Amino acid sequence: MNVRNVLYVVLVGALMLAMVGCTTVAPAAPAAEAPAGEQAAAAPAGETAAKTYADLVVGYAQIGAESEWRTANTASIKDEAERLGVELKFSDAQQKQENQIKAIRSFIAQQVDVIGVSPVVETGWETVFQEAKDAGIPLILVDRRAAVPEDLYVTYLGSDFIEEGRRAGKAMSDILGGEGKIVELVGTVGSAPANDRYTGFREAITEFPGMEIIASQSGDFTRAKGKEVMEAFLKSYGDEIDALYAHNDDMAIGAIQAIEEYGLKPGEDIKIVSIDAVRGAFEAMIEGKLNCTVECNPLLGPQFFELALQVVNGEEVAKWVPSEEGVFFPEQAAELLPTRQY
Ligand code: AHR
Repeated sequence: MNVRNVLYVVLVGALMLAMVGCTTVAPAAPAAEAPAGEQAAAAPAGETAAKTYADLVVGYAQIGAESEWRTANTASIKDEAERLGVELKFSDAQQKQENQIKAIRSFIAQQVDVIGVSPVVETGWETVFQEAKDAGIPLILVDRRAAVPEDLYVTYLGSDFIEEGRRAGKAMSDILGGEGKIVELVGTVGSAPANDRYTGFREAITEFPGMEIIASQSGDFTRAKGKEVMEAFLKSYGDEIDALYAHNDDMAIGAIQAIEEYGLKPGEDIKIVSIDAVRGAFEAMIEGKLNCTVECNPLLGPQFFELALQVVNGEEVAKWVPSEEGVFFPEQAAELLPTRQY
């Protein structure tokens, strides 16, 4: 064997060894159900393998189960985790910020790969978010923003709540012809959607001096509280009320019951605009009891896990990933109801 042939044999041997090494460092097999294209490719020899969904351990600090919207949101997160084979540690805080903080601390202790959180209120998160950052665990805000410096979270996935408020205000001014006395059911005090929907609505009606908000109170995003506060509005203002603006459909549905029990017709005597576009709102529109619903998309599971995987693999993600949303009126309700997923 001459020198050239010896070199050839050595080179082929080295290549074969490298290929064997490559197989041993290949990433864990992706989940059976994870569709092709959602699986990370094997890394070239010498590089760290990209993580796949099957490698991911994700902690999710959910707010609770206050509305139809939240139920759909939780289902979307859980179903998608199962579909992709992600290990999900899910916590329901029952509407309490202290429980969400405890959940985040427990995810840090368990060294999850990514934490998702939907902050019940905007303030009071800096300390615990900093703890996650110090532990090297990326945090994704889902559905709601928190008032913290931008370096404490990697991205916010969710709606433009100010725009939702503006859309509701525009719809209300069209429905009322620019004139009328409005009562407002505000969401959870201090929450991003309540703050922003409050602001956006006022921005949109400001050009109509004939539109007046005569009362505004929190119904905490629940049906029961929406009904209770609407009863109090009716007691104080009765027939004076021309319209109701509710920050979510659940409170509007609770209020509809209160209006009927008071002896007035919701959707006619009192016009109603609310936000979320859940199935219950479409049913109320078909019955003529609701005049408009502005969409807020809860089906955030697929985008959330996609972002989580990108983040753990060191890919750059946008600081805000907005959801796409529409506005719906009674004329479209019957046709669209069967197509609604929540
Ligand atoms: O954060 C989104 C809001 O929270 C929804 O509009 C409401 O229904 C939910 O509870």
